[in-house]
Amino acid sequence: MQPRDTIGAGTRYCAVYGHPVRHSASPAMHNAGMRALGLDWRYLAFDLPPGDLKPALAGAAAMRFIGVNLTVPHKLMAVELMDELDESARTWGAVNTVRFEARDESGAWKPVAEVATREGQKVRAHGFNTDADALARAIEEELGLPLEGAKVMLAGAGGAGRAAALRLAAAKAECVWLVNRTASKAAAVQAEIEQRFPGARTVTGYPDTNVDLIINATSLGLKSGDPLPWDMEKYPLRRTAKVYDMVYRPAESGLIRAARREGCKAVNGLGMLLYQGAKALEIWSGRTAPVKVMRRALEDFIRSVE
Ligand code: ATR
Repeated sequence: MQPRDTIGAGTRYCAVYGHPVRHSASPAMHNAGMRALGLDWRYLAFDLPPGDLKPALAGAAAMRFIGVNLTVPHKLMAVELMDELDESARTWGAVNTVRFEARDESGAWKPVAEVATREGQKVRAHGFNTDADALARAIEEELGLPLEGAKVMLAGAGGAGRAAALRLAAAKAECVWLVNRTASKAAAVQAEIEQRFPGARTVTGYPDTNVDLIINATSLGLKSGDPLPWDMEKYPLRRTAKVYDMVYRPAESGLIRAARREGCKAVNGLGMLLYQGAKALEIWSGRTAPVKVMRRALEDFIRSVE
């Protein structure tokens, strides 16, 4: 047995590919989780421009990596590069978790960690999406709000906003109001929801009623000095009970501070990051992820870089 903090010949690898990836909290979270599970695995980070995704996936497969996570800008184009797509990746149209698999002696596809592979043996990339469910889990667990039947205002209609809007529609939220600086993007998200989830109610623009939850899916709040993500004159915070800010660094954004001042229950996006990572580790290892350990590692990492 290797002492657990020493990399040895038997050590196996996972990684995140992103561009940029420098400030990723995933290595801290996953290495803590892998250690807690007693796995001789390590989690690395690689800064890869989009054009290098394909060879980098092939390289990881050839080196029998356990799996990789993909972050901006790779999640959408990865869909085309997978050998197999899980239902989650098909539903959300994006891949953030890849598990490498090979056939065992009976011919069944198994995670590479469980198969003694031969030279030249096909290793396939199996794509999953653990992001969308992580948002739902974080809101339900950390804000105590079931999405089904909820009235939600969603600020932001970029990549993160679109995924959140689709997930809310899938969860049968009562109504989702889509607010975005560029109105045409909110309208495009609304059109996609109408096509994919007939019966889901979405409205573009500010709500004309109180809501249960406001989600910030814009990038505003990441930088100090950023304005709040929507016009508080048009829709004040007192009109919602709860706020979910996808921003997790800084841990307390201007929005979270303002929401708490108004008496709202408000949490940051750390839970989303945590639950997507926990699910990825479960997909790779087949074991229950040590969520508490991973959360602590994330919080420590974020404090250390703030
Ligand atoms: P992500 O993948 O994180 O969602 P994105 O696709 O670039 O990133 O989306 C960023 C979101 O933040 C968008 O909703 C964007 O609004 P636009 O669609 O109008 O660009 C929003 N955003 C970024 N900067 C903003 C600003 N200064 N004011 C208002 N909204 C902003």
